Amino acid sequence: MSLVFVFVFCHYRFFRVLAAAQTEKKLRGAVGRICVFSGNTGMEPKLYRPPAEVRGMSSLDRDAFTQTISVPAVRVPVRVLNKVVKSLKKSSIQRPGVPRVVQDTEENADYRLVLLDPHRVTSPTSFSEAEAEALRSFGVPEELHHYELKLTYENLKSEEVLEAVLPQGQDVTSGFSRVGHIAHMNLRDHQLQYKNLIGQVIMDKNPGVTCVVNKTNIIDSTYRNFQMEVLAGEENMVAKVKENGLTYKFDFSRVYWNPRLSTEHERVVQLTKWGDTVFDVFAGVGPFAIPAARRGANVLANDLNPESHRWLQHNCKLNKVEKKVRTFNLDGRAFIQGPLREELPALLKEKVRVHVVMNLPALALDFLDAFRGLLHQEPQCEENLPTVHCYGFSKDDDPDTDVVKRASQSLGFPLEKLCSVHFVRNVAPNKDMLCVMFTLPKEVLYRVAAFTTTGTRKTWKSQLDGSLSGP
Ligand SMILES: C[S@@+](CC[C@H](N)C(=O)[O-])C[C@H]1O[C@@H](n2cnc3c(N)ncnc32)[C@H](O)[C@@H]1O
Repeated sequence: MSLVFVFVFCHYRFFRVLAAAQTEKKLRGAVGRICVFSGNTGMEPKLYRPPAEVRGMSSLDRDAFTQTISVPAVRVPVRVLNKVVKSLKKSSIQRPGVPRVVQDTEENADYRLVLLDPHRVTSPTSFSEAEAEALRSFGVPEELHHYELKLTYENLKSEEVLEAVLPQGQDVTSGFSRVGHIAHMNLRDHQLQYKNLIGQVIMDKNPGVTCVVNKTNIIDSTYRNFQMEVLAGEENMVAKVKENGLTYKFDFSRVYWNPRLSTEHERVVQLTKWGDTVFDVFAGVGPFAIPAARRGANVLANDLNPESHRWLQHNCKLNKVEKKVRTFNLDGRAFIQGPLREELPALLKEKVRVHVVMNLPALALDFLDAFRGLLHQEPQCEENLPTVHCYGFSKDDDPDTDVVKRASQSLGFPLEKLCSVHFVRNVAPNKDMLCVMFTLPKEVLYRVAAFTTTGTRKTWKSQLDGSLSGP
């Protein structure tokens, strides 16, 4: 019995290898004009490389990418087609817009060709044991046919197109952030010559993207928005995005929005509870303020950029929290020394939990001095002091220590061992964004030698009056 098995197995292996050798020979002859075989090691790995003539193209000519390549295929009777397609999932061709099953080239209506991935399958021995077994059980010969496949621009991936067009050896990274219908790129100098082509390719290859922009400078110093240039598509900068289940609408060219902060927004919002009060000093268009209000917090949200303030109000309505959020259009220090100072004593007395969110990482640590002596005229509260979540960038070797030191200096009080630091993200090589969380010390809030640092305390009321008239 076992001898019979050994014989059958050897016999089977022998014919598999023989079939492989024959098919490989056939394929090599058939596709020699189009793609290169490198001995027995398989097809040339750059099989999907577009024609060489596209190199250096500056305006996109999609037709120039059309070519014919030869791909392996198995000939399958229609009656077992679905089962075979299922069994060959791993080996069949997977290209955008390319069918896996085509008509039989011998025009026999009872057969179809299942196209295979030429990088995976170069001979019948390329099939896994499971695939070979499946073919046998469905009575499909493990013989490879070749099929002349027409590949067009539509079948290529964006990096394949760009790699073929841009100068050889240069980085073609085409990463972008997506903000609603806008793809937001940060092109390098050597890519600028091809910027419109790159924009067009990104738009073509990403459904839903109807506008591609490139940053033309570093982040604007005051309102944290970017100067940007439209590379392709419509010039509509008003985006609508979803973050953590809520909707935000804004003019991306005039306000700050970063899709990479959604986890951080969620993390801080989760720390708030129903009935808490949240002061969002640099609120932007509302990604902390609005979800906190949805969780039942009362929110006072502020932003100096009139455009952010306008969209913040709009988004409060859009998410039906306008009754829970009061908005302000003040400088952060004026907001702390104005509306926040006014509200705080009663909240602390009534044991309401208070959070202060300060997300302006380039400057927020410096704004902490606004808390010095803020309540020096009020009766001292020992418990239930506000929790501050203050963001900072650091390029230091020890970023945690660095931000705590800067926060302490700004407050005029040592925070070491009285705070926690959360790493948010790496924003550039050697530059981290961190969040320092601490309970605002009573020694800071109630100290008398307080507000000598700025003169804004006297002026917040006039700024506030102006802002309440609405956009
Ligand atoms: C980094 S963004 C953060 C926005 C929002 N909190 C978020 O997480 O997306 C900082 C915001 O602070 C605002 N801003 C800049 N300087 C300010 C200041 N001195 N006072 C108040 N807001 C300011 C900007 O307009 C911007 O919307």
